[in-house]
Amino acid sequence: MTTPNTHYADLKESYLFRRIAQKVTAYEEGDPDTHLYRMGIGDVSLPLCDAVIRALHDAVDDQADARRFHGYMPECGAPFLREAIAAYYGARGVSLDADEVFVSSGASDELGDILDLFDAHSSAMVIEPAYPAYVDANVMAGRAVVHVPAYEEEGFLPCPSDDLQADVIYLCSPNNPTGAVFGRHQLQEWVDFANRHESVILFDAAYEAFIEDDELPHSIFELEGARTCAIEICSLSKTAGFTGTRLGYTVIPAELKRCGMSLHDMWVRNRTTKTNGVSYIIQRGGAAVFTSEGQRQIHESIAVYKHNAHVLMDALDEVGVWYCGGRNAPYLWLKCPEGTSSWALFDRLLNEIQVVGTPGEGFGSCGEGYFRLSTFGDPQDTIEAARRLAQGDVFR
Ligand code: MLT
Repeated sequence: MTTPNTHYADLKESYLFRRIAQKVTAYEEGDPDTHLYRMGIGDVSLPLCDAVIRALHDAVDDQADARRFHGYMPECGAPFLREAIAAYYGARGVSLDADEVFVSSGASDELGDILDLFDAHSSAMVIEPAYPAYVDANVMAGRAVVHVPAYEEEGFLPCPSDDLQADVIYLCSPNNPTGAVFGRHQLQEWVDFANRHESVILFDAAYEAFIEDDELPHSIFELEGARTCAIEICSLSKTAGFTGTRLGYTVIPAELKRCGMSLHDMWVRNRTTKTNGVSYIIQRGGAAVFTSEGQRQIHESIAVYKHNAHVLMDALDEVGVWYCGGRNAPYLWLKCPEGTSSWALFDRLLNEIQVVGTPGEGFGSCGEGYFRLSTFGDPQDTIEAARRLAQGDVFR
């Protein structure tokens, strides 16, 4: 008899965003005419920018012309896109070789796939509250997870401690869900810690484009020593509205080695075996993001989401609810009323004011007592959601 991967039995019954989607569907079935204000999953509401749309159309035309047609793409990414991404880092003072950039179909896929690089018995450190896929991907593979709680008092940005160690360390900055961002000094401490313990940091930079404060690092490779201890995983989902189009990238420096093995070369081996690359059309659309026109246009969309954040922050200020985030990240992390669990607040907001958010408990047990609102919603919906949050007594 075939034995399934029994580690699946160790997972929570359902993935956070699926559980929310199921609750929302059940609500809609019971009340099909009611409009819901969706501030739950961080899914974008604005369309792709013009520069990307034009590039996508042109690439479709290429595929219709025998002289410009593309079949299989290079597994690690098209040189034109790898070079454009390396130049994007270069403009911020981070020097990368284009072949240190791997094009992916998105950060969430990559965060799970990248675990192939590590021994089956390796452990993973997850600072919680955290994007739940970090834990679930490791649980599925039967790996030990070291849960490190992050507290409000330390701005949800814990320092490394020598009594906590793991082979792989997940850091997400700007953070999902808290919106906290590591300063240079704090991030340097993690880089030094990882080099000292020969751990590898998986740095999730999916929200880097939302950073407003000039002094904050966008990439871990801005820090001294990161090239020998870090992999950076990034995505165009939130930066450029690619949640439904799917495109991301991963940076693995040539110097990153463990036990004499090059993780960069291993990933080339992995990708050339397990994928046939990302579609030509999508990579052309992605390359347009890194043109000056594309950069200007994606920042116009980001400005709309930042305005949403201010609309929601004003409403929370009006009702005196504590929150953080929203400034350098597209999430607001607020405190549930005393004695109300985060799932109870979820139900209350859904049933009483038709606002969908994300319960903090879904990001780990230390997220209990908090609640996340996404700022990626439709701007008109966000205004109405804010009005309802400020008017009702949902925070009673
Ligand atoms: C979130 O809402 O946390 C993210 O949008 C989920 C994801 O990126 O998969």
